[in-house]
Order: sequence, then structure tokens, then C-alpha cells
Amino acid sequence: MTTVASSASRAAEILSRPVTLNGLTVPNRIAMAPMTRMFSPGGVPGEDVRSYYARRAAAGVGLIVTEGTYVGHDSAGQSDRVPRFHGEEQLAGWARVADAVHAAGGTIVPQLWHIGMVRKQGQPPFAEAPAVGPSGLRIDGTEGTGNAMTQQDLDDVIGAFAEAAAAAERAGFDGVELHGAHGYLVDQFLWAGTNRRTDAYGGDPVSRTKFAAEIAAAVRANVSADFPVIFRFSQWKQEAYDARLAETPEQLEAILAPLAAAGVDAFHASTRRYWLPEFEGSDLNLAGWTKKLTGKPTITVGSVGLDGDFIGAFMGEGSPVQGIDNLLDRMEREEFDMVAVGRALLQDPEWAAKVLAGRFDELKPYDAASLKSLS
Ligand SMILES: Cc1cc2nc3c(=O)[nH]c(=O)nc-3n(C[C@H](O)[C@H](O)[C@H](O)COP(=O)(O)O)c2cc1C
Repeated sequence: MTTVASSASRAAEILSRPVTLNGLTVPNRIAMAPMTRMFSPGGVPGEDVRSYYARRAAAGVGLIVTEGTYVGHDSAGQSDRVPRFHGEEQLAGWARVADAVHAAGGTIVPQLWHIGMVRKQGQPPFAEAPAVGPSGLRIDGTEGTGNAMTQQDLDDVIGAFAEAAAAAERAGFDGVELHGAHGYLVDQFLWAGTNRRTDAYGGDPVSRTKFAAEIAAAVRANVSADFPVIFRFSQWKQEAYDARLAETPEQLEAILAPLAAAGVDAFHASTRRYWLPEFEGSDLNLAGWTKKLTGKPTITVGSVGLDGDFIGAFMGEGSPVQGIDNLLDRMEREEFDMVAVGRALLQDPEWAAKVLAGRFDELKPYDAASLKSLS
């Protein structure tokens, strides 16, 4: 990889152009990646959460993707400190977050989340509901204490996503991101390792995508036509980092095409290191392939500005700063449209402003201690 310093004017030129996602114009190419912080007791994002996001919007982040926020289904989550996207108090808290981000000049979408079979016996108020998933299997393939979803369960969860999306539009958000990544419920359907269904929701990649596509279609139908719907997906899973949904571009296309047809406006291709090629014979990363195959705007992510990947962050590992020339090269070639930044922005609210101004020598290494507070 390259040196830390990039040409200041080059970074500004490439990253400060606006970009359009359906009816939304994002003021620049920098997004904040969704990061669960667990600072919302009772599922309500409060003043500290509001200022945490607003601070980053004020310092140049064009698009905030919020931390994962549970949709209104009893089995969606397991922590009372993760924000929810249903309930009067919770939605009022979120509306204040959206207002503050807009006042700071940014745009914001909530990440809508159902954790599926990752769920362990929860804390109140989630203690009673069973974990649910396509086949009642955990990521490691073992049968968990959970249920294979019935048609009623599928309909209920699809309805919960659609209702949350409508609530986001009412609350003043600029769009929604559907969490279809990292081994949570929607991804459990996409991945053959957890989806062993023999009905219309299991089997080949197109059938495994049916549930995600039905969520996208229901969301699309429940919001305005120009309200952006972003779909986040990944090859890797929590607890299965080498897992793959697609071994070839053709398999990837089989998954993405039905989602685009269902009304997804943009894709957020989650990788751990953005510079790694996704398939043999091409330098394109997962976001690059996604744009090539769908023609939709795409967001890349994974160790932007940092040397070590984010898995270590949960084990208390820090990471030194790394240059972004490779990223800028790829953006110049229009391989993808936006870049999402996780830990570097968690560490330093000013990251985007510094990069846009070419103040590379002021970038800070990531220190896992930053997880402990919402600064
Ligand atoms: C503390 C933390 C919480 C995260 N929570 C979420 C989440 O709620 N939803 C999600 O899709 N990804 C989540 N991620 C993954 C990030 O969005 C991002 O993809 C990952 O950190 C890689 O980007 P980075 O290398 O810039 O940190 C989380 C990552 C971290 C470090």
C-alpha cells in the first residue's frame, strides 16, 4: 500500500463531488459505516447519540448510515441498549437525530436490522421470543435454540421492515439501509450454510434471495418512489470470515439482480479490506463487481485509512493509519461511487474534514478504547 499522504487537492477533487442515490443528493462521497454502539437504553437514541452523529455530519461526512436499529418484531434483537426503529419514544429520538444531522449539513439513513439466529436468550424486553431463521441453524451450522420460520413469520418480518421504512420517511430520514450482511437474518437466507429450506425460499441463489427481495419490494411499496433504499450485503459472516455467498460473478449477479428489480437503489458491499480483488482475473473489489453487474450506485467499505481490519477491534486491537491512494485510484476509475468509513470515523469525528482538506498528517490511529465512549 501507499504512503499516508495523498495529494490534498486530489482527495478533495475525488471525494467532494455530490452523488445521487435515487431522489437524494449526497453532498460528497464519504459515508459513515453503520456501527453498533449500545448507548441507547430502552432502545431510545438520546442526546448523546444525536450529537455523536451530528458532530460527524458537521465535519464533512456526506451520508450517515446509523448503527443497526431493530425493526418491530419480537425476535429482531437481544439488547435493550441497541436502538429500536419502532415505538413512539424511540422514533421521536430518531427524528431528533435526523434533524440534527440535517442542521449540520449531512444526510442520514437508518440501518434496519433483524439478527435472526444470532440471537441468544435475550435481556428484557426480549427474553421470551424465540430466535428465528430460515432453518433454525446457527452460523456454525449447529441447530440452535430457535425456529425455522413459518410463512407467518416471514410475512411478519417483511411487514416489520416495511413499517420501519415508512417510519423513517415520516421521521425525516433521507432513505433507509436494509441490513442484509454479516450473518444476520436476511443474510442467513442468502447463504446456503444457514438456508437449508426446500420451499420457495431455499435452494439456488435466486430462491435464497427471495426473502430479501420481498423485503425490498415491501419497503419500496411503503415509501415514496424517490426515497432511496440501500441494501448492505457481504460475503463474510460473523463467526465465518471465509464464508462466501458467491464464488463467481454469475452467482453474485443471481443474487443482486432480483434485489435491483425489487427496488433497491444502491448497494453497500461490505468487505473487510477494500483493496482485495473479489474474483480471480480482475482487480475489481466486491463493490466494483456490484456496480458492474447491476449498474447501480455502490458503496465500498473495509479498512479505509487503517492498516488492520476491524475484526481485531472487538478483541481490543488498535490499527495504524494507512494512506488512501488505492481508494482514490479506484474512485477515479469509477469502480464504485462512495466510501463508507468505520473505525477511523469512530475514533476521530474530524476524519472526513481532515481528508477533504488534505490534512493527512493529523489522522489518528485507531485505538479500541474509543469503543467505550460516544465521543
Ligand atoms: C464497533 C463496530 C460496530 C459495528 N456495527 C455494525 C452494524 O451495526 N451494522 C453493520 O452492518 N456493520 C457493523 N459494523 C461493521 C462496519 O460497518 C464496517 O463494515 C467495518 O467496521 C469495516 O469498516 P472499517 O474497517 O472502516 O472499520 C461494525 C463495526 C464496528 C467496528
